[in-house]
Amino acid sequence: MDKFLITGGKPLRGTVRIAGAKNATLPIMAATLLSPGSCEINEVPDLRDVQMMKEILTLLGTSIESGPGWCRINASNVASSHVPERLMREMRSSVFLMGALLGRLGNVKVSYPGGCAIGPRPIDLHLKGLAALGATISERHGYIMAEAEKLRSCDIHLDFPSVGATENIMMAAVRADGVTVIRNAAKEPEVVDLQNFLNKMGAHIRGAGTDTIKIEGVAELGSANHNVIPDRIEAGTFMVAAAMTGGDVYLENIIAEHAEPVAAKLREAGAQVDTVGELVHVQALGRLKAADVKTLPYPGYPTDMQPQTMAMLSCAEGTSVIIENIFANRFKHVDELRRMGAQISIEGRAAVIRGVERLSGAAVEASDLRAGVALVLAGLVAEGRTVVDHVYHIDRGYEGLEQKLLALGAQVQRVRE
Ligand code: UD1
Repeated sequence: MDKFLITGGKPLRGTVRIAGAKNATLPIMAATLLSPGSCEINEVPDLRDVQMMKEILTLLGTSIESGPGWCRINASNVASSHVPERLMREMRSSVFLMGALLGRLGNVKVSYPGGCAIGPRPIDLHLKGLAALGATISERHGYIMAEAEKLRSCDIHLDFPSVGATENIMMAAVRADGVTVIRNAAKEPEVVDLQNFLNKMGAHIRGAGTDTIKIEGVAELGSANHNVIPDRIEAGTFMVAAAMTGGDVYLENIIAEHAEPVAAKLREAGAQVDTVGELVHVQALGRLKAADVKTLPYPGYPTDMQPQTMAMLSCAEGTSVIIENIFANRFKHVDELRRMGAQISIEGRAAVIRGVERLSGAAVEASDLRAGVALVLAGLVAEGRTVVDHVYHIDRGYEGLEQKLLALGAQVQRVRE
């Protein structure tokens, strides 16, 4: 297992290019199953999760060509609708394949995705949606089967604006008879990107980005060429890193509006964040101030930025409170931050963070993707050396993290084992 060795204390300076969004790429790759045509996707980040999705799509019968930053998926032959358990366990987001395979073949079998490091992640909303579209769902021996001779349109009101459920229902509804309406839909930019991709394939979808999405079913879909939107979470991570190290960083390939929830919080904490043409500029002089954060669905503060923000507030001046409203058990990074000298107490969904002057380098372990990167950020400002173990979690979602940090002047080294 690879490790990162980080020597803290260097402010980040320079320009960093943000990769395409992981959370837009994965559902878009799954959506290619809906068409017998060939789809080209650009701005594809080089990530472990993307490799895994390619492996799954290949097993299902598609042929894939790819190069740096792009892939072409030809799904003229989809031979199987069964996603193997090993791959389903490796990547929970493979649950999107349900909507796409149901839309294409009328049946799908996946193993139950189960829990993960950030707590239980049920898929009841996905299944309710697919059932409302006319699928018969059964669960046996740890597998979920869904079948429908013909999908039919329906009106769905989601109990919670789940990103994955919204995307899964959109993919199945594209092939249903009539107009499906999803209310209380997720408004995340990645849902809008999926709508745009599906519409390029010939779907008729309106409303993504608002809480009501209307999908008029079509008989068939064709080929498409699409550029994935920039990753707002990778962008947010570099913005926080720039601010907490007292740095001066320009971010390119970023949609400023998508980064605004993080930008607003950084300004509140005392950093300067400006849009300069197509770039976002983050600069901080001196120590940041405490700030309170509540994670919420978009355009609220992203839960995927919560651990990084906690690392930042650990050394801000004053006491901050973070309320995690999206996931029940997303404080796995707290014990590791404490090992580095952070003063954090947890009460249910709330974390109280008393800012310390300086963190101190320690040996810590990444428990999941964002928790892992939060420890890297803590290492960038800690005194002495930090060793972050289990870096494979971070490789799921950050392309070339250490190279990008090195180019900004950080002292980070990957040790391969
Ligand atoms: C997506 C993102 C993830 C992000 C999350 C919230 C991808 C690949 N992943 O995950 O990075 O952290 O959005 O912004 O896009 N829920 C249910 N039942 C369901 C589905 C969800 O109760 O059927 C609950 C979850 O347990 C959680 C909340 O809804 O508490 C939000 O989950 P959801 O929006 O579905 O997240 P994901 O799509 O899994």
